[in-house]
Amino acid sequence: MSFDEKIATVRIQAATSLDELEKLRVDYLGRNGELTRYLRSIGEMPAGERSAVGAAGNKMRQRIEKSLQEGKKKLQQLAILKEMATISLDITAPADSSDSFGHSHPVLEVIDELVRVFWQMGYTVVDGPEIETEWYNFEALNIFKDHPARDMQDTFYLEGGNLPRTHTSNVQIRYMENHQPPIRIIAPGKVYRNEDEDQRHSWQFQQIEGLVIDRGISVADLKGTLLAMMRGILGEQTDIKLLPNFFPYTEPSVEMHATCPGCKGSGCSMCSGSGWLELGGAGMVHAQVLRNVNIDPEVYTGFAFGFGPERITAIKHGVSDVREFWRPNFNFLEKF
Ligand code: PHE
Repeated sequence: MSFDEKIATVRIQAATSLDELEKLRVDYLGRNGELTRYLRSIGEMPAGERSAVGAAGNKMRQRIEKSLQEGKKKLQQLAILKEMATISLDITAPADSSDSFGHSHPVLEVIDELVRVFWQMGYTVVDGPEIETEWYNFEALNIFKDHPARDMQDTFYLEGGNLPRTHTSNVQIRYMENHQPPIRIIAPGKVYRNEDEDQRHSWQFQQIEGLVIDRGISVADLKGTLLAMMRGILGEQTDIKLLPNFFPYTEPSVEMHATCPGCKGSGCSMCSGSGWLELGGAGMVHAQVLRNVNIDPEVYTGFAFGFGPERITAIKHGVSDVREFWRPNFNFLEKF
């Protein structure tokens, strides 16, 4: 018995369809294929010839398999080219006018706007970890164990002592550790607090942190920056005032109030009749915090602030319950 490799190879190369090629494969290499039967017949040859003929036979099978594979690849590519020649794209066809497109989340839009305001003032946007050590979230910020300020920030503790950050102030420390002044950064991100939810509080919310360190930075710079920020986000008619507060990592510390955009300061239900809204905390960076990150407080001073974009968004859009923002309620979210 014999097998004509030349004829087989020519037929494989001449195949014009994948079906034809598959048929040839079965004809030669199938269980009862021509080449399979030939290889089987080698077993009946005299022992002396068997090994040389067998080795040659196996090589032949490998070559036939390779031709089949190459043929398949060639035909597949041809099929693609053929299909491409028949498809055409009409770039003048009218666009799908479906109105079910999504849009940015209102809170993220406010964050984007805030970032734009600061970016125009030359700030760098930085990021920090949401799972943090006590050092970065508390101690480096002068909030020691048993400090009453820890009660202000009800913390979820994780096994092993780390915690989901309670504020974005951790980014101040992480950034100052690796950068020398002048520093001008903004750090938006999520924070977590173990507190009961109500219309104005949620256990998870966004914050936007700011930090500026340079020679000769004063409270006037802080006030001017906060005013620019609030006018950028709530409109040019906005005014601000700073009232004393306490944060262990700033001295002096303030809370910032802005004139209510609902009534422009004359008093309405949104601002409980006062004309003012408290929007965030700020202050001049405490000398000890600078020492903690090897920045000399005799040479450099600076300010920091932290704001809640949900509250600003709620005020901008007249939303009375901040929890709505993160519920999967499309009827609510589609209103913006
Ligand atoms: N970390 C403070 C808070 O979460 C806000 C703040 C930031 C205050 C920076 C002062 C300076 O309420």
